[in-house]
Amino acid sequence: MLDKAVEYIMQKIGDFKPEIGIILGSGLGDLADEFCEIIIDYKDIPGFESSTISGHKGKLVFGKINGKNVVMMQGRFHFYEGHSIQKVVFPVKVMKKLGVETLIITNAAGGINPAFSPSDLMVITDHINYMGVNPLIGANDDSMGTRFPDMSKVYTPELVEMVKRIGLEIGVELKEGVYIALTGPSYETPAEVRMARTIGADAVGMSTVPEAIVASWAGMQVIGLSCICNSAAGVSFTVLSHDDVIKAANNAKDKFKKLVKEVIKKL
Ligand code: HPA
Repeated sequence: MLDKAVEYIMQKIGDFKPEIGIILGSGLGDLADEFCEIIIDYKDIPGFESSTISGHKGKLVFGKINGKNVVMMQGRFHFYEGHSIQKVVFPVKVMKKLGVETLIITNAAGGINPAFSPSDLMVITDHINYMGVNPLIGANDDSMGTRFPDMSKVYTPELVEMVKRIGLEIGVELKEGVYIALTGPSYETPAEVRMARTIGADAVGMSTVPEAIVASWAGMQVIGLSCICNSAAGVSFTVLSHDDVIKAANNAKDKFKKLVKEVIKKL
């Protein structure tokens, strides 16, 4: 299936060779609208599925940003949609096969760290896989990565530093911290958020970690960016809603786009 997907995409993109991949999280998809040269619907790609979530479009978009060839995912597959964990990470393997060397993974997240506010951007320095599943379970594809991959530098430390430096240079304030992934789709309870804080998490979400594990395994450089869309349950006492998450992502999207474009320029 992987070969079929790659073959189908290569037929559509011809000699366009993407070197950077971006997974655009909830509410952050419009970066792709600005730079689309070739668009492929997920439903047409072997092994992809249509996206079922509002704020996620379900398109693979190819375009040039600041001179670099980029492939952007407008929408991702979440484990909570009922997809297998292999399906969730399938596009990352496809991007690797297409030649992508650096993957920028973005998401909407809840802020656990009390210093975070809605619409803050956070550079992910590390993660906690609390999904109860690992996307590398099963036969190992030795051509992509090793059986027991090291995970001590999933989020490429030099790139974390670079993103922070760029944030300072262009006046986009950035937080940094550890992202914890739970499966969702229910948001966390206040007790779960207290646990997450106790074990070292700064932000919580329902994605990113499976994709980051596979990208790191496959030898890609990874940058993780969270848009903090709400205070996680119990951190503040508002009721969480997906609509509010999308609104906060919308408020952050101009600075998010400014940052990502500048990061791409420097990669
Ligand atoms: N929890 C989990 N996922 C999220 C949240 C949250 O509070 N906000 C946005 N995505």
